[in-house]
Order: sequence, then structure tokens, then C-alpha cells
Amino acid sequence: MITLRILTHQDVPALCSLLINTVADGGSVSFMHPLSENDAKSFWEKSLDLSAQGKRVVLGAFNDNTLISTVTLLLDFPPNQPHRAEIGKMMTATSFRGKGIAGMLLKEAEKIARDKGRWHIVLDTAEDEGAAGFYEKMGYQRIGVIPEFALKPYGGLTGTILFYKKLT
Ligand SMILES: CC(C)(COP(=O)(O)OP(=O)(O)OC[C@H]1O[C@@H](n2cnc3c(N)ncnc32)[C@H](O)[C@@H]1OP(=O)(O)O)[C@@H](O)C(=O)NCCC(=O)NCCS
Repeated sequence: MITLRILTHQDVPALCSLLINTVADGGSVSFMHPLSENDAKSFWEKSLDLSAQGKRVVLGAFNDNTLISTVTLLLDFPPNQPHRAEIGKMMTATSFRGKGIAGMLLKEAEKIARDKGRWHIVLDTAEDEGAAGFYEKMGYQRIGVIPEFALKPYGGLTGTILFYKKLT
């Protein structure tokens, strides 16, 4: 059975495995391959510290007790942008892809955003082997491409595609 919940520091080991495997599989989620356990741990510890301060929400989807997907809702914006949120670190374990899990998590993140009065969502995804098709299916509007924005996990530059969605 698939369940969704907000993640905490107790979930760091599972988050590290998911992130390391996603990067090894070529997923563009800010890191280069090979991603060390220490760097992954440091990233998630900081992220969950920010979550504890209310600056973001880290969500996870579980198959029974196994973490199979995660997404982060970023909420830390300047005083003149109280309506905004951003989506980041969306990834599903390779063996669970194509089953609607990321879609479920993204909808839950949008619900949390709406409940917090955040109706303006921005995100970006790699132009090469990224998730543009997924975000289009989820109702995000493509704004444009910034060329040569980041390195792919195994090297070589890729552009990033910017997306926006206004929650109703
Ligand atoms: C992108 C990702 C999170 C999607 O996870 P998932 O759990 O397989 O997604 P879902 O099954 O919920 O997909 C929902 C829909 O989007 C489609 N979709 C998923 N990934 C897609 C992609 N990369 N390109 C095009 N369409 C995609 C699915 O086919 C599905 O369509 P359907 O409803 O018509 O069947 C996953 O492929 C992943 O972890 N990729 C590597 C990391 C990454 O690139 N993350 C995005 C960083 S911005």
C-alpha cells in the first residue's frame, strides 16, 4: 500500500539511498555521480533542519515501509513574495517509476502549498533527460529554457527548462 507523509531526520538514511541511486541513474537533481553518502547525508540533514524551521516541506511516498519517492516544497521567499512556492528534489525510485507515485506526491505538495496560501509555483528541470513531460502532464506551463545551465550527473552541460503553475 502506498502512503504519503512529511519526512523528518529519521528518514535521512532512506533519503540518501534514493538520492544516490537517482544520481547514479542519470537524474539531474543538483549532484554529480558518484554522490558520496556523506554529501547526501549533509544535504538532507540541512534540508530537514530548514523543514523544522518551516522554510520547506519534505514529503515522501512509501510502499509499506520503504521510501520510494520524494519531493520538496520550498517556502522561504522574500516578504514581497508571500504567495510563492517552489518545487525541488522530485525523484522516484527507478523500480517504481511510471506508476503515478510522483504525480500523487506533487498533488499533495500542491495541496500543502494551497493550504499555506502559496498559489504561485515555479520549478525547473533539465532539458536533457529531465522531467519536462511529467510537469506538462501535471499542468505546469513551460516558460522557457536557460541554455548551458548545469552539468549532468555524468558530465556535459544541459539547459534548464523553467515551469510555472498558478494553483486555483
Ligand atoms: C520524473 C520522475 C520523478 C517521475 O516519477 P514517476 O513516479 O515515474 O512519475 P509518475 O508515474 O507519477 O508520472 C506521471 C505521468 O508523467 C509521465 N512521466 C513521468 N516521467 C516522465 C518524463 N521524464 N517525461 C515524460 N513524461 C513523464 C508518466 O508517464 C505519467 O503519465 P500518465 O499519467 O499519462 O501515465 C522520475 O522519472 C524520476 O525520478 N526521474 C529522475 C529524477 C528527475 O529527473 N527528477 C526531476 C527533477 S526536476
